[in-house]
Amino acid sequence: MLQRDLWAAFDFYVSRNIERDGDHATRRRRDALRRKLAAVIRELTLSPREIESLPDNYSLAVKSGRFAAEHRNEPAVDYLPPKLFTSPEEWFEIDFFQPSNIHEDIQDRFITLHTRNYKARSYFRIFYRYPGGRAALDDFLKHIDAEGIDWKFGAHSGFIMVRDGTRQIPVGMEVALVQFLITLDDQLRPVPTPIVESVRLRVFRNVDGRPEPPTNTGVGMNVSEYTLKRRLLFDGAKYVGLAREPDDQPIYRVIFQSEKAPDWGEAGRSLTLAQDCRRCHTGGGQIGVQTVVSLVNQGGVDAGAPLGVAHPLSAGAPSPRPARAAGFKSRHETYRRLVEYLE
Ligand code: HEC
Repeated sequence: MLQRDLWAAFDFYVSRNIERDGDHATRRRRDALRRKLAAVIRELTLSPREIESLPDNYSLAVKSGRFAAEHRNEPAVDYLPPKLFTSPEEWFEIDFFQPSNIHEDIQDRFITLHTRNYKARSYFRIFYRYPGGRAALDDFLKHIDAEGIDWKFGAHSGFIMVRDGTRQIPVGMEVALVQFLITLDDQLRPVPTPIVESVRLRVFRNVDGRPEPPTNTGVGMNVSEYTLKRRLLFDGAKYVGLAREPDDQPIYRVIFQSEKAPDWGEAGRSLTLAQDCRRCHTGGGQIGVQTVVSLVNQGGVDAGAPLGVAHPLSAGAPSPRPARAAGFKSRHETYRRLVEYLE
């Protein structure tokens, strides 16, 4: 955990200097600091055996009995889906559209915006629970691909969007975004771990953004976020580290901010957690299907999104996300600087 925290600080200072931010004296100070950070990070790297022995804290959290197994459409329920990673016919892991011929020079597109924003010190996986199951989801995605996208707009703009009036997702659909830790081994290689750092959930109560039925966003979806808390992690692993963030408190933002943003991010403490989810997922007036960003990855070509509709992995297929993110990190400028300091 300490390695993780220092690595974030290292990446931050290194990025400021790569951008040549501040005067010479400031950059020298940062440089001195990041050299020290790099040296401590090396002391905190783990051997492959230590990495292998890291706990699967999500399944331990589920087993702890601390969390409800059903959401009961009640946003106040502390719900963690027990079979998120273990039941591929209930929770479908979603991946980017894959062209049949992936050129080497586009491999860095297959990285989520979240992974990019964490500079790949974490990897993210995305899951859908779709009423009607796999066949219904396949059929829906086929329809979006055939009718739901203005491909000419996509070719011209570098990103695609789901058209207004497209077939809607079913009420009751649930989507999950899970953040996992990447660590550095004693050879300074980025290695994905099973440690879950955060879980974000959205449950659709309607798909037209009406205030009814009541939800914690007020626009037909219930949202929740669980994060890894050091206090709980090391407290006899009582709750195995994961705890629900309050919906009605401001959210401390560390990503999707300019690097010069003030503490708490540009919006300060003005938005509660539920309002913050709403800001991105329904902010431009999107409803239902259009709020499921991962469906078409609207980030745009420069943000990595391939122009195509996402698909579920086949049951039992290993997730491609961890290795991709570790590879992305190992090619990242922040990582190259770290290794350079330590050589
Ligand atoms: C700054 C914008 C932003 C905010 C705020 C935000 N999200 Fe997202 N969310 C995204 C993007 C972008 C994706 C697509 C994944 C990616 O590329 O990283 C996404 C994906 C997701 C997904 C995966 C399924 C999908 O919809 O594509 C879930 C679940 C999710 N977010 C939940 C939440 C919750 C819960 C909150 C509030 C705690 C929240 N999000 C706040 C931008 C945001």
